[in-house]
Amino acid sequence: MKNYLSPSILSADFAHLGDDIRRAQEAGTQYLHYDVMDGLFVPSISFGMPVLESVRKITDLVLDVHLMIVDPERYIDEFARCGADIITVHYEACKDIKKTLRAIREKGIRAGVTIKPKTPNSVLADLLDEADMILLMTVEPGFGGQAYIPESTQKIRELRAMLDARGLDTDIEVDGGIKKENLQMVLDAGANVIVAGSAIFKGDIGQNVRDFLEIMEK
Ligand code: DX5
Ligand code: ZN
Repeated sequence: MKNYLSPSILSADFAHLGDDIRRAQEAGTQYLHYDVMDGLFVPSISFGMPVLESVRKITDLVLDVHLMIVDPERYIDEFARCGADIITVHYEACKDIKKTLRAIREKGIRAGVTIKPKTPNSVLADLLDEADMILLMTVEPGFGGQAYIPESTQKIRELRAMLDARGLDTDIEVDGGIKKENLQMVLDAGANVIVAGSAIFKGDIGQNVRDFLEIMEK
């Protein structure tokens, strides 16, 4: 399977967001991860539609939108209009997860479903055909810069086995606490879309992207 890097701009410098994105893009990233928080599903508030619209104007990277918001079905149309290429919604936040995933696909956008660290993989069993990507949270959603939860590795392995058993090659994305040091481990477990926020945007962005891609392209 092909691996993709999805730097999370939650850790970027918002006063120079365009420059930070350009650095990541020039160094070869394929995706950009966009974390939307509403202060309800998670304690913090990040950014929403207007910022996405501006980001869309300056980049052709795949915009990978992670909605950490209650009842995300309310905003599918708006995020589609603002340029999302992938919209990922939380299993825990949806009234009707299947309906929400279908509404995303109907917009011609890739649909992702995500679960928090304490939610078991089993809830995904009858959603596998409805999703183009499954995001396993490897920290509690809400903040950048947290430590990777070690139990996540086994969850990635189990999910990859579940998909293989069904003959599906669905993308598995991981998000939270991914660094150069644990990247190979999550790839080996079966993840192929890698979110990294602080490990990319703190320090030399170009060099960080190149270091990640070197490991991912081996
Ligand atoms: C956390 C967000 C992440 C966050 C990851 O709730 O979903 O995308 O930006 O940040 P790091 O890579 O620093 O853990
Ligand atoms: Zn995220």
